[in-house]
Amino acid sequence: MKIKTEEITKTDILTEVLNGLSKSPKMLPSKLFYDKKGSKLFDEICELEEYYPTRTEIQIMQNNIIEMGELLGEGTMLIELGSGNSQKIKLLLDHIPGLAGYIPVDISSEHLISSSKILKEEYPHISIFPLVADYTKYFELPLIDKPYDHRAVYFPGSTIGNFTINEAKEFLNRIADIVGENGGLIIGVDLKKDKQILEAAYNDKKGITAAFNLNILNHINDELHSNFNINNFKHFAFFNEEISRIEMHLICETEHVVNIGQSSFIFNKDEHIITEYSYKYTLEDFKNIASDRFDVKRVWIDDYKLFSVQYLKVKD
Ligand code: AVJ
Repeated sequence: MKIKTEEITKTDILTEVLNGLSKSPKMLPSKLFYDKKGSKLFDEICELEEYYPTRTEIQIMQNNIIEMGELLGEGTMLIELGSGNSQKIKLLLDHIPGLAGYIPVDISSEHLISSSKILKEEYPHISIFPLVADYTKYFELPLIDKPYDHRAVYFPGSTIGNFTINEAKEFLNRIADIVGENGGLIIGVDLKKDKQILEAAYNDKKGITAAFNLNILNHINDELHSNFNINNFKHFAFFNEEISRIEMHLICETEHVVNIGQSSFIFNKDEHIITEYSYKYTLEDFKNIASDRFDVKRVWIDDYKLFSVQYLKVKD
């Protein structure tokens, strides 16, 4: 199994962190949550009572997987963005008739190599073409020495929610380019709902989400040898109703200076760093942001209308 690598360097991370901290309010890229510790904390979040998205999405997939497989159809080359929870991808690998191959794309080579190896053992008959790349940016598919009928992207977890509306539109247009003619997209989209339910999901009682949020600073320290002290910051998450997004912030509790490479940043007392947006869509809003290049062909939702999985097709 050959692995194509579009390397993400320390310089890329440094540039993005310096750019983000130069903004007002200061911001950090959400993808930096996911070092080893952060990925473990995220797995714990997915098991929390308050965090409904993961279990609801899995349940929707389980209940409708036959129809999903049939809609994707014979000869699909399946591209997964962010090879995370193997439970969901296995459902698809098991239910697409005449699946042509599987291309997992992930920013972490370590994670990608280990998960691809495990899948290869369980699915020796499926051709796997892993790709290390930051899919939030431009990327190219690996060379595929296998015939197939059409491509489809699988983008679960409502990760689309991390993008602003404009970014999400651009991202979906780029996905349309990647899948091309007759291309498909299966995407998990979290739905707008009661503020109480949403805020509980990002402020769990055990404090796992708080630890996950603060860990972004430790990850940056490890990567860039900066000197953030997580004890100077406090987790804060709320639902911004006008913009229909959860915002995760870190609030600075005492004025201090942080050094990163050649730069220093002053953090004032009560100053906020924004670490993540998680947009919550109505079905109508999501259909609109996808509509440049995609038609929404099928929407599956749970009984409580918490979460949706949607099948989109590239417009002719
Ligand atoms: C992985 C981006 C979908 O927005 O719910 C969970 C990440 N952040 N708790 C989300 C997350 C805080 C998650 N996504």
